[in-house]
Amino acid sequence: MNFLIGHLSSCSQLCRSWKSELTNVIMNCAVVLLLTLSCFTWSAAADTPSTAAPKKLKYLIDPPVYAEVAGRRGDNVTLLCILRTKPTHYKVKWTKLEPGHMGTENIIMISNADAFKPYGRLGLRASLRKAHIMDASLLLRRLELEDGGTYRCELVNGIEDESVFLTLRVEGVVFPYQSKNGRYRFTFLEAKEACAEQDGTLATYKQLFRAWTDGLDWCNAGWLLDGTVQYPIIHPRPICGAELFSGIRSYGPKDKHHDRFDAFCFTSQTSGSVFYKSGSFSFEQAGRACKHQGAELALVGHLYAAWHFQNYDQCDGGWLRDGSVRFPISNPRRRCGGIPEAGVRSFGFPNKTTHLYGAYCYR
Ligand SMILES: *[C@@H]1O[C@H](CO)[C@@H](O)[C@H](O)[C@H]1NC(C)=O
Ligand SMILES: *[C@@H]1O[C@H](CO)[C@@H](O)[C@H](O)[C@H]1NC(C)=O
Repeated sequence: MNFLIGHLSSCSQLCRSWKSELTNVIMNCAVVLLLTLSCFTWSAAADTPSTAAPKKLKYLIDPPVYAEVAGRRGDNVTLLCILRTKPTHYKVKWTKLEPGHMGTENIIMISNADAFKPYGRLGLRASLRKAHIMDASLLLRRLELEDGGTYRCELVNGIEDESVFLTLRVEGVVFPYQSKNGRYRFTFLEAKEACAEQDGTLATYKQLFRAWTDGLDWCNAGWLLDGTVQYPIIHPRPICGAELFSGIRSYGPKDKHHDRFDAFCFTSQTSGSVFYKSGSFSFEQAGRACKHQGAELALVGHLYAAWHFQNYDQCDGGWLRDGSVRFPISNPRRRCGGIPEAGVRSFGFPNKTTHLYGAYCYR
């Protein structure tokens, strides 16, 4: 997949962007290399459970399978934790280890033979599976975008507490998002809000990395959830930095209050679906056309989710709720933007009254 902008009218804007990008990138070049490298070690370290090398487990089974569980938003998932022997008295404690808050624990639930106590946001959707008497697996219902991360199942018996760690990955798609006012306009908080307004969250470094391995090549830097600013490059080219290597280019952590960039958003499966209403609509007319169908103009995240999960393909520009005009291409062909890779193409934010397009509705 590829997210290059696929329309000539966007080109002059794009080229201008790339020029100032170049200046930026040259200045940051040395820093970038260093940070990209340290980033790998960093994110690896952040995910390693803080306990030392795992000792041989007596009570819990270290899962040979399902150590990584994946699900889409809305799915129910099971994080396996099976006992092999039961101590006389014990509790099972499930926690989520939040990266960036090393040491602090986010308890989901604590349970013993007779009681089950849920905690926090995750606790509301959590229960123990109890498929059999040795089963302490966690059932997490209706996955949300922020649920991804490392989870710990801890057997607490006061003497030899034991833990197993599992990774939950929310399956989804990363999309770059730029303000309607132009390139590099978001502070960190504004980027976070912009993603939320498009039915997404700021992407994590891992999500961006995975998107890059899937083909995301984007020559504008955007905020990530950890407060760093990065961008993924598949085809190195001078306008996207002087480096010859493909990879995630990083500016490192930036000033969340004063620095301004674009955003990388993450979204997943939606409960509704996207459809195209053909016509020559102004933005306002497009909104009404969707209303007539008992729907609303789709959000950018909705369109990306449909493209990613349903291979949605429609060779017509249509209005979205943010005032941008886009179209999703799964089978690239010459007359649909002429870009060889699949992707969601953008016409940017055209004049809402003078430009006429179809509408992408969501219901
Ligand atoms: C998830 O579990 C709930 C109740 O436990 C059930 O109603 C719902 O249909 C399940 N959802 C999926 C996607 O399996
Ligand atoms: C859109 O075009 C109309 C008519 O040319 C113009 O009056 C209006 O200012 C334009 N709007 C924007 C936001 O540029």
